[in-house]
Amino acid sequence: MYTVDQIKHIEWELSTKCNAACPQCVRNHYGGATVKSLPLISVTLDQVKTLVPWDKMSSLEMVYFCGTYGDPIANNELLEICKWIKTHTKAAVALHTNGGLQSPKYWRKLAEHVDWCAFAIDGLADTNHVYRRNVKWHKVIANAKAFIDAGGEAKWDFIVFKHNQHQVDTARQMSKDLGFTQFNYKKTMRFLDKSHNFLDKQPVLDDDQNVEYYLEMPTIDKYINNVGLNLQKIKQQYGNFHTYANLTSITCFANHERKLYIGADGYVFPCGWLADRQYGIDVEQHPDHKKLKLLWQQLGGAHLANLYHTPLQTIVEQTWFQQLESSWTNQDRLERCGAQCGAGTNHIGDQNIDVDYIPKLTMQK
Ligand SMILES: C[S@@+](CC[C@H](N)C(=O)[O-])C[C@H]1O[C@@H](n2cnc3c(N)ncnc32)[C@H](O)[C@@H]1O
Ligand code: SF4
Repeated sequence: MYTVDQIKHIEWELSTKCNAACPQCVRNHYGGATVKSLPLISVTLDQVKTLVPWDKMSSLEMVYFCGTYGDPIANNELLEICKWIKTHTKAAVALHTNGGLQSPKYWRKLAEHVDWCAFAIDGLADTNHVYRRNVKWHKVIANAKAFIDAGGEAKWDFIVFKHNQHQVDTARQMSKDLGFTQFNYKKTMRFLDKSHNFLDKQPVLDDDQNVEYYLEMPTIDKYINNVGLNLQKIKQQYGNFHTYANLTSITCFANHERKLYIGADGYVFPCGWLADRQYGIDVEQHPDHKKLKLLWQQLGGAHLANLYHTPLQTIVEQTWFQQLESSWTNQDRLERCGAQCGAGTNHIGDQNIDVDYIPKLTMQK
């Protein structure tokens, strides 16, 4: 793996809190109650200042606040954190949000301290809330407008489902009229169960686990993720997905792109795809959840993978990342590594085919 001074891109989850309940997000139970095991925490300005050896990060180009379990705007110190990083490093600062929190006044201020912001707006006034549950579309648009009017660079990310596929072109035009600099549609790869069986619809639950409605895959070809076709081929060749993920050769995307991921709970990974093996209804039933704990046990304790207990340089150059890299060539590997960075799958690339700020998978597959 890389050394700290080679890292170009940090994704930092600034909070596990969120105003929304998106049904395919691991933080909740299919759009219903928040997962009980999830610690609800936010990173502090003080932690940002002290936990990363900024003076050693000579290749750093970007600090990106997105995350796996929460929304960066839910962090009350976000403005100060962005300002501090912009003042004390050369890195660009960017974030990804559902855009529903805070007021236009706040968003005007934020525009001064970030290089760009991607707003996750999956539809228009009558559909955005079908996936972005609890988010008010008019509020998001008012916030985005304030951000843009104050000079902020805004990108509109639109995840396509059956219920909003007819609105993609209208939303693209609206994004231009409002002054967004980009419009990206996303072909979600999340219509899968934990054994990588392909589902064409998924239930959306209320807080008491009753089915309220179903989310369905888009039906227009260009919005459908190829993951289904790929999985069919893999299953024909290997019998099942688990066998493939455990045998395929792995070329780590994060290593290739010099990326690092930090969770709000302090755990450090090459990418967020591993962070999401920690908490979640299906996640906690998956063999990877136990395997991750076992890897940390073999390492000498989970604290050796956690920034709140171990210096970043040690985690990256001496302990956890070394162990993780060794696991890719033996049976200790996490299935997730095989699934995301195995030779026969390109889930990340296909989902983000139209998303220009995500590096294209240039590695040979
Ligand atoms: C947990 S969110 C964190 C940031 C913020 N809360 C948000 O939703 O944009 C991580 C990323 O997953 C994306 N995401 C959420 N649901 C998705 C889905 N069904 N398919 C693909 N990406 C999804 C979000 O838009 C965001 O880019
Ligand atoms: S807005 Fe982001 S963090 Fe919040 S529930 Fe949706 S995907 Fe998850």
